[in-house]
Amino acid sequence: MIKLLRRLGKVSQTSGFQRPEAVASSLTSGCTDAERRAQYVLFAGTSGGMSARVRKITKDILALSQNCLGFTAISTRTRDRLLADAPNLSRYFFLVERPKHPIGKLPDGCHTVLRADHPDLQDLRRRYANHPATEHIQWSRQDVETRLDLPYFRADNSYVFQSRAYSPLVFYATAAYVEKTDKADLFQVLEEDNYFGAETFDFHGKLVSRDLLDSIIELNFLAAYVPLFSESRSINVLDIGAGYGRLAHRMTAACPNVGKYFCTDAVPESTFLSQYYLAFRNVLDRCAVVPLDKVTELRSIPIELAINVHSFTECRGRVVAWWLEELSAIKIPWLFIETDFGLTSRDGYGVRNDFREKIEESGYRLIVQQPKFAQSQILRDHGLYPSEFYLFRQT
Ligand SMILES: C[S@@+](CC[C@H](N)C(=O)[O-])C[C@H]1O[C@@H](n2cnc3c(N)ncnc32)[C@H](O)[C@@H]1O
Repeated sequence: MIKLLRRLGKVSQTSGFQRPEAVASSLTSGCTDAERRAQYVLFAGTSGGMSARVRKITKDILALSQNCLGFTAISTRTRDRLLADAPNLSRYFFLVERPKHPIGKLPDGCHTVLRADHPDLQDLRRRYANHPATEHIQWSRQDVETRLDLPYFRADNSYVFQSRAYSPLVFYATAAYVEKTDKADLFQVLEEDNYFGAETFDFHGKLVSRDLLDSIIELNFLAAYVPLFSESRSINVLDIGAGYGRLAHRMTAACPNVGKYFCTDAVPESTFLSQYYLAFRNVLDRCAVVPLDKVTELRSIPIELAINVHSFTECRGRVVAWWLEELSAIKIPWLFIETDFGLTSRDGYGVRNDFREKIEESGYRLIVQQPKFAQSQILRDHGLYPSEFYLFRQT
């Protein structure tokens, strides 16, 4: 029914629906996050092509259905007014992605490397074609080509969403949370610049970004279980779906005892970009980018921690199973997964399947599960991209 109504969206009415304030409060108060996500707001604009009679019927159906089906119908104009006042509500709407135009520094000469016809990228594309881990649902070549502006790989795109749905206040509150909870003292040490389009915000004279804040929260969490800061021994790490190398850069800058940080990925552009970015950050002595067709070579290297941040949830179940088999073969004791969709793979449009059993069958047992904003209920609802951390250990 909702799907049908969404299709009808363009032809429905603008009057007689809830006031924006009422919509906002019904979305934000008195219900849990899960309940809130389950509610629908249908927005609709008038269409000149529809007869008055059809418009009236549509309006009546909407008015009737919204009461019994639990959604609220508002006009597109009201939606836009609402979002202008409260951009953080935009994740409750089915909006066409409108990434911001990238700003920020680019190093001289980067355009000669960061281009789609670069021979290294072409080579990776050839090598990755037909690999079982590249049966993409979300990262097809066409998707990547239309959504990714190579030189601005840290801008608002599928690697790390930037402010899009969030106001600067959310960045401020999240930065305050990080400063307060940062036992590892990374907030003072790690720095941000706006190279390659990363959106930055001022926090009392310190430049912060989602890249920086997320990384500090993740590192603090991991350090409570895995010896990231131990001086007596060093550990190796494997990041699957490492993107442009965000966490590799942060972890090597923050943790002198991390020996080698291996980045791998099944998307040629990600491998290509991480190689470029980690060289740019001058950390290739401690990071290695491992192309997908070389992953099996890691089997002879002792690796203590595997990381998967917002990646398995963007893969098909059989691709997750492929990676889990590889992890078992490499024999990695710790597995950290961060997700905002639970432990589910994406197997079709709107189709998600639980892969927790697959993890357990690979010999991992859950040691801890906690929200990204473990120490703040308010930020669990209103912080910057809330998510869930899962840490598994091989039995
Ligand atoms: C949302 S981005 C997250 C990037 C990075 N983990 C981070 O947090 O900055 C998802 C990543 O998953 C990667 N990815 C997509 N399909 C994959 C697959 N089949 N196997 C491994 N990684 C994949 C993408 O290339 C991208 O790097």
